[in-house]
Amino acid sequence: MPLVPSYIKKLENYTPGKPIDEVQRELGITEITKLASNENPLGASPLAIRAMIDSMKNIHRYPDSSGYELRKELANKFNIKQNNVVLGAGSEGIMSTIMRTFLLNDDELISAKNSFIGFRVLANASGRKVMWVPMKKYRYDLEKMVEQITEYTKIIYIANPDNPMGTYVTEKEFDEFYSYVPDRVLIILDEAYFEFAHDKLDYPDSMTYRYDNVITLRSFSKAYGLGGVRIGYGFAHSDLISNLLKVKVPFEPSTLGQIAGLAAISDTDFLKKTIKLNKNGMNFLSNQLDTLGVKHIKSAANFITTVWDSESMAKELTITLLNMGVIVRHLDTFGWPNCIRISIGLEKENEQFISSLGEIL
Ligand SMILES: Cc1ncc(COP(=O)(O)O)c(C=O)c1O
Repeated sequence: MPLVPSYIKKLENYTPGKPIDEVQRELGITEITKLASNENPLGASPLAIRAMIDSMKNIHRYPDSSGYELRKELANKFNIKQNNVVLGAGSEGIMSTIMRTFLLNDDELISAKNSFIGFRVLANASGRKVMWVPMKKYRYDLEKMVEQITEYTKIIYIANPDNPMGTYVTEKEFDEFYSYVPDRVLIILDEAYFEFAHDKLDYPDSMTYRYDNVITLRSFSKAYGLGGVRIGYGFAHSDLISNLLKVKVPFEPSTLGQIAGLAAISDTDFLKKTIKLNKNGMNFLSNQLDTLGVKHIKSAANFITTVWDSESMAKELTITLLNMGVIVRHLDTFGWPNCIRISIGLEKENEQFISSLGEIL
């Protein structure tokens, strides 16, 4: 028997967006604009930063493994019970717990091809069969996903909105889709970007889907700027949650994550500022890209994906922008070699991107 299972050997390392200091070191450029990882350009919620600093004196203590305070607060905020809430080291941490809790033997998974890379990594690492259904016009093709359901299907994953396309499944589409999914199949609704999308009238509010087989995942990484502390949460039926709690890494999420999340929820000012900045930035970038004649996909998240004629063009543009101090994300490793994703930045960062792009074109 080989030490490393063949499905693990086949995996490839995840390549994150280039960090700012790496670009500074390699290119000797000091002024860098990073629009590559869908981070919050305003930084983190100031209330969360304050709370983390204040908690430092107790950092030698292990975290509260039950996440009591934060789960209670999330339950209050969303009008559910504490035993319907799970926490994790980012929403990806919860995704990983879901895989370890529910998958066995011949279970199968279904998702969209070339959607969120974090799920792809976890699904492939589970060693189970995954049906990757191609997107249609850059959107989840729920009809085709339903066709892939078999007696072995255990999990269906939907990123809503999707990363890296920014498109979303509408309420009507989800309702129709849901009517075809057997109760024994768990649907993961990954709403890492929901704060940016939920003002769209046809965006489904998954809090109304408190079905027994739906788990909603959300994140403090984007709208609250806490990507570095790793804190996310999920809502589901108490039976699902109680089993997830048995399997999760006992001391995740960290003390800092829990404290930051708790403070961030009450930081409505920061959330409002973030959403407004994102909306303005999205309008600015869409208009400017139109003016430059650049094809882009309408996005409900905090990034916008552009479509180019060829892979070499997208690659070359990404490298040239990098040399001009603007880091964007070529989506070749995501499976979209003709596309470049640009995270919405501060006003001046968006302007810098557009003026650099204009110069190149
Ligand atoms: C669709 C989607 N889900 C989940 C995540 C990860 O969120 P977290 O930082 O909470 O693990 C991301 C981050 O990029 C994402 O794009």
